[in-house]
Amino acid sequence: MRVAVLISSRGSNMQALVRACEAEGFPAEIVTVLSNNPDAGGLEFAASHNIPTKVINHRDYENREDFDAAISEYLTEQRVDLICLAGFMRLLTAEFVNKWRDRIVNIHPSLLPAFKGLHVHERAIESGARFTGCTVHYVRPEMDDGPIIAQAAVPILQDDTPDDLAARILVQEHRIYPLALKLIAERRVKVHGSVAKIIDASEPDTSLINPSEDN
Ligand code: GAR
Repeated sequence: MRVAVLISSRGSNMQALVRACEAEGFPAEIVTVLSNNPDAGGLEFAASHNIPTKVINHRDYENREDFDAAISEYLTEQRVDLICLAGFMRLLTAEFVNKWRDRIVNIHPSLLPAFKGLHVHERAIESGARFTGCTVHYVRPEMDDGPIIAQAAVPILQDDTPDDLAARILVQEHRIYPLALKLIAERRVKVHGSVAKIIDASEPDTSLINPSEDN
């Protein structure tokens, strides 16, 4: 499976995906890392792992439609099968998302459908919830919406700052994103309406709730 990873800055999730794909026998290959931000730190990492990088700067386009069309054209040229959004902080048009329907996934640092949008960690702490987490999901036109592929729950501790919580969640993001990619590449994820089901999951171990590494 030919994968493109889209980033906007640090790209630590992209790094986790790259490392996973480098393992022998992993069923996906990252064929490009694309950023809307020429200064994204993750671009250097990708280049150092011999992955072609591309910058398509949203500031060079008059509107979202033109920007998204440029991305789509590039990804089509690269014969990309799956797009992984990994901290890609631009909203995509419905036209783009529909064109790549069920071929575009995202990671979000909350247990969706709770805490969609921005300032997620602050809002989770302020809510008084005891748990939050992270979610890998198929992308739909509505923000942070779409069938859930994998989630991990993370406790919110009494004295957590948003940065503490973000760091604890990030550890889990780096586990579940490669796992979700593997399942997709193995064609084991089937979307039924708003729900994604995993084929041959031996529940409860592989129920993809705080999944173990050996799924
Ligand atoms: C990650 O925590 C990711 O879940 C979040 O941005 C961070 C990117 O970090 N994404 C979103 O909030 C998308 N709504 P990274 O660049 O180190 O992967």
